[in-house]
Amino acid sequence: MAAELIDGKAIAEQINAETAAEVARLKAEHQLTPGLAVVLVGDNPASQAYVASKDKMCTRLGLHSKRVNLPAGTSQGELLGIINDLNFQRTIHGILVQSPLPNQIDEAQVFAAIDPSKDVDGFHPLNVGKLALGDPTGFAPCTPAGVHELLIRSGVAVEGANVVVLGRSRIVGRPVSLILSQKAKNANATVTVAHSRSRNLTAICRSADILVVAIGVARFLKAEMVRPGAVVIDVGINRVEDSTVAKGYRLVGDVDFEPVAAMAGKITPVPGVVGPMTIALLMRNTLKAAKMRHGL
Ligand code: GUN
Repeated sequence: MAAELIDGKAIAEQINAETAAEVARLKAEHQLTPGLAVVLVGDNPASQAYVASKDKMCTRLGLHSKRVNLPAGTSQGELLGIINDLNFQRTIHGILVQSPLPNQIDEAQVFAAIDPSKDVDGFHPLNVGKLALGDPTGFAPCTPAGVHELLIRSGVAVEGANVVVLGRSRIVGRPVSLILSQKAKNANATVTVAHSRSRNLTAICRSADILVVAIGVARFLKAEMVRPGAVVIDVGINRVEDSTVAKGYRLVGDVDFEPVAAMAGKITPVPGVVGPMTIALLMRNTLKAAKMRHGL
């Protein structure tokens, strides 16, 4: 059996079109333009590329975008001061501080300094709490919310399904497990969170109707860990050396793609699915922040 590929780009475009239409309506009916500030500290090339694509998408969908580029040597105090200014800027509805941050910066303290009502990344403890409580006034982190939308919009039945999430990170694994186990339409899944210390990982994974893989190890999920017909969402992105290509490396996911695709019912390729979905959900969260700020 060959798995059906989940077309993440098309699904991201669908969400972006919905966001653009709603942004246009807010502008016309309420003279309101949602605004996103993206803060980048230092010059990590991968982070620069992510930030540039967020900028571009804001422009495409009609959102206001503000870039704040800070030198690698920026102190904790300077960064907290800048976040505090953004918290009070009326044209800014969402604030994203690109991770990873340089070593002198305490990332948790930075995320906690963002006004929770502008925390479109969903990393502030208040929004983590709201997600755990199922409070819809919070912000769900973009990649996990993107995984949920991918499942819904590609027609995967989540309700009552056995979901195994591989990985328990603050950014992906843990929030994905909270979203999919919520008592809500298109959720209500039976979720198991497995990780590097789990025993009998193969048996656990083989019990899954849906596998969400975010363990951070290239090609970790092997075909024998997948029940025939299962849905596999690969959230990993890893550089592996490959001297046969010009760049000297290739990007691969956390799933051993070809053999797993031969076993699975549906699967996401890497790269090209989760990245566009994360940005689409970031735009949607910024729109939500602007609407909530204005009571709309
Ligand atoms: N770095 C990689 N992914 C993300 C993300 O979703 N948000 C932020 N702030 N930084 C990231």
